[in-house]
Amino acid sequence: MFEKLNFRDEKDKILRKISVDAKLPLSEDYKKLIDKMIKHLKYSQIEKYEKKYNLRPGMGLAFPQMGINERIIVIVHEYEDGKFNNYVLVNPKIVSNSSEMICAEAGEGCLSVNRDVEGHVPRYARVTVEGYDIYGNKVKIRAREELSIAFQHEIDHLDGILFYDRINPKKKFYTEDEMRQI
Ligand code: NI
Repeated sequence: MFEKLNFRDEKDKILRKISVDAKLPLSEDYKKLIDKMIKHLKYSQIEKYEKKYNLRPGMGLAFPQMGINERIIVIVHEYEDGKFNNYVLVNPKIVSNSSEMICAEAGEGCLSVNRDVEGHVPRYARVTVEGYDIYGNKVKIRAREELSIAFQHEIDHLDGILFYDRINPKKKFYTEDEMRQI
């Protein structure tokens, strides 16, 4: 059974709060919610389901978008055509980052932002993220390119930051010479 989820809208104050650490191990309710979030994200990236259920494509979600101000993020990354990796990170922290910055050429989107926002969002090209899995085991993930952007976008949600906060209003777009685009 597929359950289409609803997400808090950008106008909701919950999205602007700093979330607190989640308690480990996670409750059964949270594990069930995470499973639904993974399924929603995965289906949103598969054309036939995207159309069937009228989904907006998305790669990641953070708990505040579900109305819960706790530090949990979920990313479903299509690393090859039709092949997905799921990442669930509890209390994630970026412990190191590249000096190189990149931006998504087409800008970023967010399942809580129901409009197009133009502009490049500067992100680290590579990050190392530490956190815990749903059972409380420590995990360390090295992410690059698109996945690195996704981790930074989702961790920002835990600090009440939306992607467009990082668009420079005086310089919305970068050239390839100024910043590598992916
Ligand atoms: Ni988002």
